[in-house]
Amino acid sequence: MNFDIKTNSYLPEQCGYAARVKALLTEREVVNPKAHIVTFGCQQNVSDSERIKGMLCLCGYSLTENIEEADFILFNTCAVRGHAEDRVYGNVGATKKLKQQNKNLIVAVCGCMAQQQSVADKFYKSYPYVDIVFGTQQYHRLPEFIYRRMTTKRVYELGLDNKEIVENIPVCRDGTLKGWLPIMYGCNNFCTYCIVPYVRGRERSRAPEEIIKEATEMVQSGFKEIMLLGQNVNSYGLGESHGINFAKLLRMINDIEGDFRIRFMTSHPKDCTEELLDTIRDCKKVERHIHLPFQSGSSKILKQMNRRYDREGYLRLIKAARSRMPDVEFTSDIIVGFPGETYEDFCETLSLVKEVKFTSLFTFIYSPREGTPAAIMPDPITREEKGRWFNELLIAQDEISEQLNNSLIGKKMRILCEEYLGDGLYSGKSEYYSSVTFSGTPDMFGNFVTVRVDEYKNNTLYGTVIN
Ligand code: 5AD
Ligand code: SF4
Repeated sequence: MNFDIKTNSYLPEQCGYAARVKALLTEREVVNPKAHIVTFGCQQNVSDSERIKGMLCLCGYSLTENIEEADFILFNTCAVRGHAEDRVYGNVGATKKLKQQNKNLIVAVCGCMAQQQSVADKFYKSYPYVDIVFGTQQYHRLPEFIYRRMTTKRVYELGLDNKEIVENIPVCRDGTLKGWLPIMYGCNNFCTYCIVPYVRGRERSRAPEEIIKEATEMVQSGFKEIMLLGQNVNSYGLGESHGINFAKLLRMINDIEGDFRIRFMTSHPKDCTEELLDTIRDCKKVERHIHLPFQSGSSKILKQMNRRYDREGYLRLIKAARSRMPDVEFTSDIIVGFPGETYEDFCETLSLVKEVKFTSLFTFIYSPREGTPAAIMPDPITREEKGRWFNELLIAQDEISEQLNNSLIGKKMRILCEEYLGDGLYSGKSEYYSSVTFSGTPDMFGNFVTVRVDEYKNNTLYGTVIN
């Protein structure tokens, strides 16, 4: 664990609360207080949890994987699709018993699900053992919330005021090689199926100098891969007076000295410019992979989704990227069974998948989200039918992945050796997106190695180190 606790510029008021929480824990004889964090959902949540952990460490907690021994339990929740929500209720419910065993235990719920008023009310009213419910723009106040809970009443703070971004929150990163770097928060796109704009608020970009400072610190402390994060990274900086857009930001990060790699997600096709494609081609540290969700291959459905591009526009983009970088890899997100989608529309998704040949896909069956425009659109197709379409898509993609992986045999790739699998075998990701397994030695771990791909079997690419 890499714990970066530079508190000199974090909000002085919150540092004060953290010191008081620490003193109270000692006064109440909570010896070696421990915190357990459960994170649901996307990388943004994982990244937020790293900052939550940083603040908890500042308050005197150390982290534990064992929920039973925790004095503080936090659930960072996701609302993007329904099934993640159901899991949260079960998990939170299970803390009731733990509270009976540990009178000092504090239980908190935050994240996209908690940001929804009806859900937050449910936690507050029906789960009396939940002490703190707070929203996605209140994270930086966690020390204050814990102090208030320890000294007075339960806390309920959902303010979504879209104010400035609070910088310099202490961060306790999960890894030492690959790290998340949020460059923007929120979303302005209002795709009609999506809850994110309602629970994360308007798009706000971090100042370029803050991003460069954090990236530089990460590289200096040994990180080899920086993943730039945002709901729509390629609209970074739009409307800001500094004039630095995502392409320019990539060039600035690329110029930071050191041997490291830059990844980014998620890009929206409507903001994928020629300038950005040129930048990806020109910057040696930027991966040759674009995660470019298209959601549906039918222009009719894309319009109803409010995606602001059509099938032809998306295919033009793929062509424009491949004409600059013939071996660039693509991944994508797809929604199957959007309200009003017919089998013919779905076949257009299927044909786009076959035409583009994505390295891999993140596929979802449409899940209605209360409060979004799509949730009240007529949706006559049954879940079973959507399930059949979904399986058809998976089978088609499996075939494509197999073909693509076989076509990589003989190719040289620069792999970040990031995982030891045992028996002298290591694995890691290439500058594209593919993972490769190879025989290695301990000194390779955490470094880049050049590997030639030898074979593809059991859904795995195997290679040999050639440097
Ligand atoms: N139902 C199903 N999938 C969804 N996504 C977002 N909202 C929904 C929804 N209501 C998917 C999209 C998005 C990914 C993160 O989650 O494909 O790109
Ligand atoms: Fe949701 Fe669309 Fe924003 Fe992505 S771009 S977070 S799918 S509204």
